[in-house]
Amino acid sequence: MTRILHLSDLHFGFHRAALVGPLLERVNAARVDLVVVTGDLTHRGRPEQFEAAAKFLSRITAPLMAVPGNHDVPLYNIPVRFLWPYAEYDRQISPDRAPAKVACRARVFGVNSVDPLAWQRGVVHGEDVDRITASIAVPEVNIVALHHPLQQLPQVDKELARDAPDALARFEAAGVRVALSGHLHRWAAEELLDLGHRHLLQVQAGTALCARETDLQNEFAVLDFDGDDLRIERHIAPMGQAGFGEPEVSELSYGENGWRKA
Ligand SMILES: [Fe+2]
Ligand SMILES: [Fe+2]
Repeated sequence: MTRILHLSDLHFGFHRAALVGPLLERVNAARVDLVVVTGDLTHRGRPEQFEAAAKFLSRITAPLMAVPGNHDVPLYNIPVRFLWPYAEYDRQISPDRAPAKVACRARVFGVNSVDPLAWQRGVVHGEDVDRITASIAVPEVNIVALHHPLQQLPQVDKELARDAPDALARFEAAGVRVALSGHLHRWAAEELLDLGHRHLLQVQAGTALCARETDLQNEFAVLDFDGDDLRIERHIAPMGQAGFGEPEVSELSYGENGWRKA
């Protein structure tokens, strides 16, 4: 079995400070093979926010990988955003913004989907898709991890990242079975399969720590891969509640027609 924990949208600098301890406790208690952080580690990409995020990550005991989110490059400091957008990310998190890791029978390929020129929207570069699809190894579970979603439910009012539909189709055809994403601060997983790409399950995480009231809750997910089966635990901390409740569990399995509810 391969156990992966998916954290997204920590937003240090605008985070629920009282939830940091309970979150760390849950993350370390889960004893996972890999923690994947899909961007927005900070709220405004400021040095002290990266310092807080790096301190948090250093207290996670499991192996870890991260990719940047749009909030990890400065929004208002235009010269820095255009000239050195990743200076603080590189210095305090990692100079590798698209890491790849092996965790038991899973391979996780990070993608940097941030576009400093289109701050909110993002982009999935064709060269990144080329690089990853050339490295796919079946029967391992191949997973991509990026901040911006590859697809989204029709009610989402944000614009999809540039070239995301093309990347989704190419990843799916090449054998990527799961995409981990964030950005929307709203959970979605199984219902995305109904959009037509049944061979690639996108796990669209909510925000693990952002304090924005309209996000309603903070959460993270634990994914257990066992052969063709996948068990997903969602650990949820509603706003106004001190910590995380009992996890909600859903089970899926992968077959020749793609993913379906077990
Ligand atoms: Fe975010
Ligand atoms: Fe974002």
